[in-house]
Amino acid sequence: MEKFLLFFCIAALAALLSFSKKATVHADMNSTRKNHVKGTVGAIVDYSSRIGKEEKLAMEMAIDDFYNYTNQSLILQLKNSQGDPIKAALAAKDLIDNQQVQAILGPQTWEEASLVAEVGNQSHVPVLSLADSTPSWATKRWPFLIQASPSQHVQMKAVAAIVQSWRWRRVILIYEDIDSAANGVIPHLSDALREVGAEITHFVALPPSASSSLSEELEKLKMQQCRVFVVHSSLPLARRLFETAKKMKMIEKDYVWITTDWTTSLVHSIVNEATAISSMQGVLGVKSYFPENGSQFQDFHTRFRRKFNTEHPEEENQEPGIFALQAYDATWAVALAMEETNKSPNNCLTKSY
Ligand SMILES: *[C@@H]1O[C@H](CO)[C@@H](O)[C@H](O)[C@H]1NC(C)=O
Ligand SMILES: *[C@@H]1O[C@H](CO)[C@@H](O)[C@H](O)[C@H]1NC(C)=O
Ligand SMILES: *[C@@H]1O[C@H](CO)[C@@H](O)[C@H](O)[C@H]1NC(C)=O
Ligand SMILES: *[C@@H]1O[C@H](CO)[C@@H](O)[C@H](O)[C@H]1NC(C)=O
Ligand SMILES: *[C@@H]1O[C@H](CO)[C@@H](O)[C@H](O)[C@H]1NC(C)=O
Repeated sequence: MEKFLLFFCIAALAALLSFSKKATVHADMNSTRKNHVKGTVGAIVDYSSRIGKEEKLAMEMAIDDFYNYTNQSLILQLKNSQGDPIKAALAAKDLIDNQQVQAILGPQTWEEASLVAEVGNQSHVPVLSLADSTPSWATKRWPFLIQASPSQHVQMKAVAAIVQSWRWRRVILIYEDIDSAANGVIPHLSDALREVGAEITHFVALPPSASSSLSEELEKLKMQQCRVFVVHSSLPLARRLFETAKKMKMIEKDYVWITTDWTTSLVHSIVNEATAISSMQGVLGVKSYFPENGSQFQDFHTRFRRKFNTEHPEEENQEPGIFALQAYDATWAVALAMEETNKSPNNCLTKSY
């Protein structure tokens, strides 16, 4: 799936893993498989979000597939952060102290990932962050932190390319007001736009829970000359924003709306919801590309949909998105890195680190 990412992660991880502790064996695993346990991986996800639900299932599938292909088994210890950075940090501490995990996967937001990185770094346990933005200073500060999701820089270049292709000069950025959105996206978008001779003229920060205040904000935007909006927000907030904008006749000719990956890569989860989809009619979106025609993906897709449907009957759509694929690949990367480390504890990667 994402080969580039995978190789990078394995190299970095194998080096880091040789520092961490040996695993304990899981009691409720069947006896054949138990004899082949090579380590324990921790994961911290937010079960209440669509992204978390997809990630959890994808990680479990990766562990099962890895066993099927290599006869090497890993134990996956999952924790629910409920999207709360403090809970995520406590979960990390518990995974390290009590479950003796050798690496931690997740979490989804930079607010959580930064606290988990600190805990992991203290105990020399590698943390693979799936958060969409990791500031460049972070991996220097915490050498045990690895970013396992694509950088925002590339995505913002794609947004800028759309702006350039229509020769727009000014855009307004509307973003969900959390640290990672502000720090992770604004500098990249500003740079990318500058390169194509455009700029952000206004920044509109919306609180994650914004709802009735949205019409006031949009009213102010209606007064602006600039009618090109880039929206960087989670799907729930984006839905409320577009539903309000549609009522205010702002999703029409003369207005341009561009959503980033954070929204666009989850639109598949609401395709059956007519109101939401109709309010987004005409919005342009940038999302991560992955080839969907390969046999490996097809096989994953079929199994994922079946399992997701059983686990989450409340979800209307069972398609895996990019977040599931990233979680699957990151889990494989950890599994392969552990295999490397077990094979040759003193390989050259370790020495060069
Ligand atoms: C354990 O699981 C493996 C594969 O998942 C299966 O082949 C084997 O028969 C199982 N063994 C027992 C004792 O259930
Ligand atoms: C295990 O892998 C083989 C191919 O190596 C495949 O045919 C089989 O369906 C897989 N089984 C499961 C349970 O994934
Ligand atoms: C895994 O183990 C089974 C039975 O022990 C064996 O038949 C199979 O070839 C092994 N697969 C790999 C990839 O080593
Ligand atoms: C993280 O761990 C490394 C290696 O032990 C150490 O040099 C560094 O100071 C730690 N970083 C922080 C922020 O504690
Ligand atoms: C999948 O589609 C891409 C682009 O359409 C094509 O280049 C590639 O060869 C296809 N792969 C397979 C396995 O069909």
